[in-house]
Amino acid sequence: MSLLITNGRIVTASDDYVADVYCDKGRIVAVGADLPAHRFQADRTIDARGQYVMPGGIDAHTHLDMPFGGTRSADDFESGTIAAAFGGTTSLVDFAIQYRGQTMRHALDAWKARAEGKAVIDYAFHMIITELEDAGLMEMDHMVRREGVTSFKLFMAYPGVFMVDDATIFRALKRTGENGGLVCMHAENGGVIDELVKEALRKGQTAPRYHALTRPSRAEAEATGRAIALAEMAGVPIYIVHLSAADALEKVKAARDMGLPAYAETCPQYLFLSYDNYEEPGFDGAKYVMSPPLREKWHQDVLWKGLAKNDLQVISTDHCPFCMREQKELGKDDFSKIPNGAPGIETRLTLVHHGGVRTGRLSLNRFVELVSTAPAKMFGLFPRKGTVAVGSDADLVVFDPGKKVTLRAKTLHMKVDYNPYEGTTVEGAPSAVIANGEVVIDGDRFVGRRGAGRFLSRTASARPA
Ligand code: URP
Ligand code: ZN
Ligand code: ZN
Repeated sequence: MSLLITNGRIVTASDDYVADVYCDKGRIVAVGADLPAHRFQADRTIDARGQYVMPGGIDAHTHLDMPFGGTRSADDFESGTIAAAFGGTTSLVDFAIQYRGQTMRHALDAWKARAEGKAVIDYAFHMIITELEDAGLMEMDHMVRREGVTSFKLFMAYPGVFMVDDATIFRALKRTGENGGLVCMHAENGGVIDELVKEALRKGQTAPRYHALTRPSRAEAEATGRAIALAEMAGVPIYIVHLSAADALEKVKAARDMGLPAYAETCPQYLFLSYDNYEEPGFDGAKYVMSPPLREKWHQDVLWKGLAKNDLQVISTDHCPFCMREQKELGKDDFSKIPNGAPGIETRLTLVHHGGVRTGRLSLNRFVELVSTAPAKMFGLFPRKGTVAVGSDADLVVFDPGKKVTLRAKTLHMKVDYNPYEGTTVEGAPSAVIANGEVVIDGDRFVGRRGAGRFLSRTASARPA
């Protein structure tokens, strides 16, 4: 199918101009002002006058169909990718989990099977490593060189589940120096947190807010600093995931000021929500139980500034939804049993546009860079994804900066029974979304196809600045 998008304001990480975009067979074929109709006849034309035409969003951190906390994340690869598409995301990088005693091969096959035939947009995988013997080191090489899995997540938290020790982290880091992979770190001091959790429970402190009170920002900052130091000793880059706190950002900033290749992402929840949400009545604080937890409100401003100044390079969602009913409820009498995670795959672009661009905190170009171009570069998808250029995949968002949307669980498409931003009205949202040259979102309708999404074999990180 061919598609012509006319008169849109093409916004990339570096450009902003009015032009037409012609797509054919899934690729962008021409970009230019007043493309001649006789040469660029299309099966469908979208008039984008007054709207932005930007590269499709890339969400570099999602957990679809993931077993976790005694249950399973509520969105599978069908519902999750449909919701992503509604929000203007056209590619995502999810996490396959290599459980102890299992191989990475097994993990990748298992996660591919979850996605194949279901995903409506393209997807890739990071590999979560929970143990790393010699065979695992060789598997890391194989993942990077042969399987297109070029990044690995390690955890400094969740003892007994995902947490690995510093020696394992160091081994993984060193290996990426040889094979070109990138380590993504969940940076929280799991040992200290575990002690604080036990102490709170001994005192009968079981409400959701104790999740936050037992995971202080210092525990995140300490682990962030340690992870960066380990990467420095290994002589390799590092990427900190879901950074939530000013003191953790300080560690990244200090490293970058020294010229170290330290990178970090934050997520909308840390920019819009705060510790106060845990004080909501009854058990409602459970909606916000995620790790790292929400911080005091003043951290938000520091994170926005970090995004503007490139101390933070990427905004992803850490979409990991659990319903209040039957899932979050598992921790009704004990906050440590509340499954960790929150929904966000559908609301990333609109929230960041509303809170970032409309307030003047982020330029339009920087917005596009944070939600699309930088994740594409960081995770080996650029220039196939993350830009509007001839030869790139025709993954595009026609974004209406004046479209007002009130965020409600009932009208959003994530399969979860609450929304952390319930009732918030935001300005700026997609009016059409195109994935691989096909319109998948047309106004308020999903018109894509289950199974149309393809596995993306990634190259090594072409790290952004
Ligand atoms: O609470 C969170 N973040 N859940 C998802 C797992 C993770 O650590 O990213
Ligand atoms: Zn994590
Ligand atoms: Zn996560």
